[in-house]
Amino acid sequence: MPVSSWADDYDIFDHDYVANPFPVWDELRGTCPVAHTDRWGGSWMPTRYEDVSAIAHDTEHFSSREVLVTPAPEPPEDGEEMVLQLGGEVAAPPITSDPPEHQWARRLILPMFAPKAVEKYEPITRDLCRSLVQDLVAAGKGDAAVGYAQQIPVRIIAKMLGIPESMSETFTQWVRGALELGATDPEVRQEAFKEIITYLFEEVTKRKEHPGDDILSELLAAEVDGEPVPDYHVIGTGILILVAGIDTTWSAIGSAIWHLATHPEDRRRLVAEPDLMPLAVEELLRAYSPVTMARVVKEDVEVNGCPMKVDDRVLLSFPSANRDPEVFERPNEVILDRAKNRHIAFGAGIHRCAGSNLARMELRVAIEEFLRAAPEFSLEDGATVTWAGGQVRGPRQLPVVFG
Ligand code: HEM
Repeated sequence: MPVSSWADDYDIFDHDYVANPFPVWDELRGTCPVAHTDRWGGSWMPTRYEDVSAIAHDTEHFSSREVLVTPAPEPPEDGEEMVLQLGGEVAAPPITSDPPEHQWARRLILPMFAPKAVEKYEPITRDLCRSLVQDLVAAGKGDAAVGYAQQIPVRIIAKMLGIPESMSETFTQWVRGALELGATDPEVRQEAFKEIITYLFEEVTKRKEHPGDDILSELLAAEVDGEPVPDYHVIGTGILILVAGIDTTWSAIGSAIWHLATHPEDRRRLVAEPDLMPLAVEELLRAYSPVTMARVVKEDVEVNGCPMKVDDRVLLSFPSANRDPEVFERPNEVILDRAKNRHIAFGAGIHRCAGSNLARMELRVAIEEFLRAAPEFSLEDGATVTWAGGQVRGPRQLPVVFG
């Protein structure tokens, strides 16, 4: 059904909106800053920076027990005892935890993604990017989403979890099933989560007998208040790291490559001025923020005049917040050296992305190596670029030609 009004009937999976949501957000911010829909289980969608940020900080009225943008499927039956169920959704602490549990669940994983811990993955990320882009360039053209962006984060996460690289393709399918394809098809989502849970359960069992130098083993060895971390928690956090660390970053890399393919002046500037890279990475994250999260209303509350009721779902459109003209000058332009850039692509408040150091490193290295091997490239004439949206927005088909 076509959208009758974006203010009270929006559809986050509308094909044109997924490909280009920016005009809709611009209109909503000006006319109806908290939109509503009955579609996909019903939700509210604030579009202004101030509102999105305020809700992300307000854990008193908004719970993270369901963070997916569409309602959860029934819990997988045979995975039930392995995972903590909250509101019917597979728990993935700390992203699905509220205070006070959130604090210890987050503290457990922060050291694994600290700058020093991430640094040691930079050389393998660089080698991987180099070899992927060389293959594409040698062919003269290729799909920069499938053949490049999509291949990078999954392999780094597999390394961190101590899982063979040969599982990368399977992980990619699972993560797409959990977030992208499953967002509009509960059966696909349920099946994907079941496969991930079953796999991680087996891996955790193996690590208990033969601990290794990986995140799952570290979590199993950790203690909270003198007690070991329960298996279901280790599995839940493993799910999160897989799901949060893969298509988020691949989407950010894909959008960055799309921008550089379609804006030759920015691409040439970045090639000529490589010192711009840190600012450019932040600007590309701002302009093409991939992630939208959800909250559930804990007690009746009003946001910008809109009455939200207990159990209502609220979408935190970090991508729209990051294009709010109240906060960013010329928000719809990519300004590679934008100096004032307090974007919230990684969220805000207690759930702010724990993997941001890793994401930034992967994005920077992926752009650097692509431009090094292919300073000149563009979209292939007549070829179709496709986008995924909803929870995570990014290109899924990105045909480019080199030279
Ligand atoms: C460009 C890539 C990424 C983006 C844009 C992104 C974005 C986000 C956002 C918006 C949140 C906040 C969630 C909320 O408020 O409910 C979040 C949380 C989180 N992200 Fe990321 N993320 C990215 C990459 C990663 C990576 C590579 C990892 C690590 C494997 C990761 C791990 C996490 C974790 C563990 C949380 C939960 C933190 C908490 O609840 O305390 N993310 N991310």
